[in-house]
Amino acid sequence: MMPLDRIRNFCIIAHIDHGKSTLADRLLLKTRTVEERQFRDQILDDMDIERERGITIKCHPVTMHYTARDGITYELNLIDTPGHVDFTYEVSRSMAACEGALLVVDAAQGVEAQTVANTHLAMDRGLEIIPVINKIDLPNADVEGTARQIEEILAIDASEALRISAKTGEGVGELLEAIVARIPPPKTNPTARSTRALVFDSVYDEFRGVVTYVRIVDGMLRPSERIRMMGTGTETEVKEVGIFTPKPKPADALGAGEVGYVVGTIRKPSEVRVGDTVTLTKSPATEPLPGFRPLRPMVFCGFYPVSAEDYERFRQSLEKLSLNDSSFTYHPESSAALGFGFRCGFLGLLHLEITQERLRREFDLDILSTHPAVIYRVLLRNGEVLDVDNPVRMPDPTRIDHIEEPIIRAFIICKNEHIGDIMKLIMDRRGEVQKTESLDTTRVMLTCFLPLNEILVDFHDTLKSISSGYASMDYEPAGYQSSDIVKLDVLLNGEPVDAFSCLIHRSKAHAKGREICKALKEAIPPHLFPIPIQAVLNRTVIARETIRALRKDVTAKLYGGDVTRKRKLLEKQKEGKKRMKQFGTVSVPHKAFVAVLKAGQS
Ligand code: GTP
Repeated sequence: MMPLDRIRNFCIIAHIDHGKSTLADRLLLKTRTVEERQFRDQILDDMDIERERGITIKCHPVTMHYTARDGITYELNLIDTPGHVDFTYEVSRSMAACEGALLVVDAAQGVEAQTVANTHLAMDRGLEIIPVINKIDLPNADVEGTARQIEEILAIDASEALRISAKTGEGVGELLEAIVARIPPPKTNPTARSTRALVFDSVYDEFRGVVTYVRIVDGMLRPSERIRMMGTGTETEVKEVGIFTPKPKPADALGAGEVGYVVGTIRKPSEVRVGDTVTLTKSPATEPLPGFRPLRPMVFCGFYPVSAEDYERFRQSLEKLSLNDSSFTYHPESSAALGFGFRCGFLGLLHLEITQERLRREFDLDILSTHPAVIYRVLLRNGEVLDVDNPVRMPDPTRIDHIEEPIIRAFIICKNEHIGDIMKLIMDRRGEVQKTESLDTTRVMLTCFLPLNEILVDFHDTLKSISSGYASMDYEPAGYQSSDIVKLDVLLNGEPVDAFSCLIHRSKAHAKGREICKALKEAIPPHLFPIPIQAVLNRTVIARETIRALRKDVTAKLYGGDVTRKRKLLEKQKEGKKRMKQFGTVSVPHKAFVAVLKAGQS
């Protein structure tokens, strides 16, 4: 075990693509934790989708040993963090296990929105922040300008900022020295009588059960001791402790200040809660460690298997998925239109998209998703307060006193010339600009309040397109605000289809209703009878379209010939029909659901 003063625990925070993973790789090479020949790029990103999209989703800890210029060997524990706004939660839990943070800023891009949001998180946690200006090898790197922005926008002294190229390795040696010199060693309570370790993540291993990632704060953990989770009360015997190199490597013990993993005999992931404190059963600690911001899904939607026979397989897949993604929640629900499915909670839209993609890919499941929704707080006339994340559960309007919706505080960084368009976008989305600050001669930062509901579907895409890809955005929750929210229903052939209902601000209901009807008209193929499509607000029809009757004769273009050809075409048509959902007498293809989701967003 390392003495405390030779341990340094840190994370890397950065805006997406500013080089966090590349720097982590470089540190692994420089400290010989990984040899050049076994190296694959971005060694810490091991999920398929992470590699493919080049984004980090889960935090990956790794222990490195570094012999500094003073001749002493230090243990450096790096906890990688994700860089997308959806995963702020993962960032904050990584930070809880560290004393310092490397704040990486791309010299060619300068400070971006996420740099600001993550720096706020690190400052709130009291971490020692080391500013690192990366990509100095690029011909368009503006090192001085970036240093100035770090000082002006983030209020961090940049005079000792490190200038590096994670790609070529330039300056990385100095960075390692700075980590040792500037990040304080972990503190422990010398009078603590028992072990306390913070759980900052957990993964499920088919053979060993739940593997808990911990940062030891007081005392130590050894195999064969009995431990208890103070929050959930779960007890188990420690089978193995170890560190990440980055592969798990068993150790004799984990001592104060160290970061590693513990394997017990826990089979149920729900028995280990991230943020909990591990202590010894024999001599338990009295006070748990302060946890961190609890996990809270922000976006909800229903997932339904396209074919009902897949339900059981779907349930098992969700269960497996949630084993390794504690931020994803689900519970069974049923919809009159879609049958049995699950209401799922996500940290944000990217998270939703990635989960859907993983289900499709890893479990080979075709699923429909309903309109994403936030949690509305509904205050009833009788004084009751309901949290509603599903339009189906919205009480009758006559019982409602008022509805409140979640608000976010967003930081948007853009070029001066785009400020007009972006302000208009914010206004269109019912937002309010709180302040504008200029970053340098060409860029500004807007701080604004927006309803979370309004940024759910395509805010990022629109922001990127009106700013030609230059604007960046990050946000933090900013409470609730009273709002005129209404429920918009959709009737197909006179029957309400609950899967198409949504909760929306009154000022947007008409336009959205029209768009949905239009989208459905285009997406649903003609039937043998006409199908009216209606958007209804409070029992009043606000938009209507009709699909004209038609019969599609798929064999029409055949003249005589072999009967097997005709059969083949009919079979093909049957296959296609299977993929449709039947609503009463109306068949709705998969693409109609997608069309409805996208309707009325622009
Ligand atoms: P996320 O994992 O999505 O948060 O991104 P990241 O911040 O980890 O960025 P990543 O390390 O994937 O780097 C983004 C891109 O920048 C990659 O194409 C890297 O090759 C490139 N890059 C990183 N560091 C440097 C550098 O020092 N110089 C140059 N020229 N390119 C770099």
